[in-house]
Parts: sequence; C-alpha cells; structure tokens
Amino acid sequence: MDTKANYDGILKLEDSAEEFRELMMHYDCAMLEVKTKLEVLNKELALLNSRNPFESIKCRIKSPESIIGKLERNGIPFSVENIEKNLNDIAGIRVICSFPEDIYMLVDCLLKQDDIILIEKKDYIKNPKPNGYRSLHLILDIPIFLTDEKKHMRVEVQFRTIAMDFWASLEHKMKYKKDIQNADSISEELKYCADLISQLDRRMEQIRNRIDSNTTYKAYGAIKSE
Ligand code: GTP
Ligand code: MG
Repeated sequence: MDTKANYDGILKLEDSAEEFRELMMHYDCAMLEVKTKLEVLNKELALLNSRNPFESIKCRIKSPESIIGKLERNGIPFSVENIEKNLNDIAGIRVICSFPEDIYMLVDCLLKQDDIILIEKKDYIKNPKPNGYRSLHLILDIPIFLTDEKKHMRVEVQFRTIAMDFWASLEHKMKYKKDIQNADSISEELKYCADLISQLDRRMEQIRNRIDSNTTYKAYGAIKSE
C-alpha cells in the first residue's frame, strides 16, 4: 500500500472520526439484521428438517486500514460519503454450509424476503474463478430503523461449503505471502484440489440425499426421493 496515501487517509479519517464511527455503527446494525434473518431461517429449517442448513456464520466490519487501502487502490479520495457510495463490502457475512444445495436454498429464502433488495449476485460455484475459487456472493440492500430515520445499507454475504472455505483459507494465505517460491506449481496444485473438493461436495450431497430419501422437506416444499 502507498504509505503516503495511507497516511493522508488516516489524517482525513481523524477529521471525520465522528461521522465515520456513526457510519460503521450503521453497517454493524445492517449486518446484525442480515445475520438475524439467516439465524431465523436456520432455526425454522432445523426444526422442520432435523438438520441445520448452515454450520457457522461469521461477521466482520472492514477495518479502517482496509477501507483506506481499498479507496486508494480504486483511486477514490477518502471521505465518509465516498465510502458509502463506493464500497459494498464494509459489512461482511460469511455463511458456511455443509452442502451446496443448502446454499441455494438459503439464498432463495433470503431473497424472497420483501425488505431485502438484491444489488449483485456472483455465483462462483456455478462459474468458478480460473484459480478454482468457489463461493456464492451477494450484495444486499437492507433497511435499518434508527431513532428518526430509515436508512438503506449494503451488506456482502458470502456462502461457501466447509470444504470451499478450507480451500479459500489456504489460497488466501498464499496470495498474501510475498516472495513465495514455486508459486506456479502451488497454484496448479490448488486448482487441482479445488476441483477435487467440488466433486467431493457433490458426492457427499448425493450420500446425504440417499440417507434422507423419502424425507419431506416441509418448509421448502420439496419431496426428495431416490
Ligand atoms: P474485492 O475488491 O476483493 O471485494 O473484489 P470484487 O469486488 O471483485 O468482489 P468479489 O466478489 O470477486 O470478491 C469479494 C471477496 O471474495 C474478496 O474480498 C475475498 O474475500 C473473496 N474472494 C474473491 N476471490 C477470491 C479468491 O480467488 N480467493 C480467495 N481466497 N478469496 C476470494
Ligand atoms: Mg471485498
């Protein structure tokens, strides 16, 4: 990162510290809203079908350093207004599911809710990145209700299987390690593993469906049978 630009960003952040903190609080509230929606779905579907559609959920607010760095990389001057206008991933939620089918079911249920607006959907499960990266990303617009206003906020939600998350963590480590030796052969091996993981996810899902055959998925209205 350009140290001078980063330093300038920190100075500007200090100037608008109060406004910045307020915006971050709004993102925090929006993240909480989406997290609660997902947890509600998890509870309902777990009760109806005796299994959880997701295994874990992680939330994070982008750090001031990362915000300054991203604005700088995109050539956008630092201002609280520019953060809100240009960055969609200040509030981030990662949902880790056991099976790909559960990802699509959760996404369907979430997008059906009438207070959520879908801004962007990137399906890197159906269309993996060339390096093998798989996940489903949504940018959502959700209202938060404050003491005297209703405000629309953006939240990024990433859905992955446990195996995809395992892969992404390792790949992320390599990406951010400088001067890595044998980078090409590691990338090739990672791509190979990503494809293996995708096959594994599918086969595990088939086994799950065979075990569950003849089970009625009440909330989702589908009857699964072999
Ligand atoms: P960003 O500027 O990074 O937000 O990229 P983008 O706006 O093009 O969005 P995209 O949906 O492609 O990626 C958003 C996020 O997904 C990233 O910040 C990472 O958390 C994750 N991601 C995307 N591609 C990869 C990848 O190749 N490897 C790993 N490990 N994570 C990725
Ligand atoms: Mg991002």
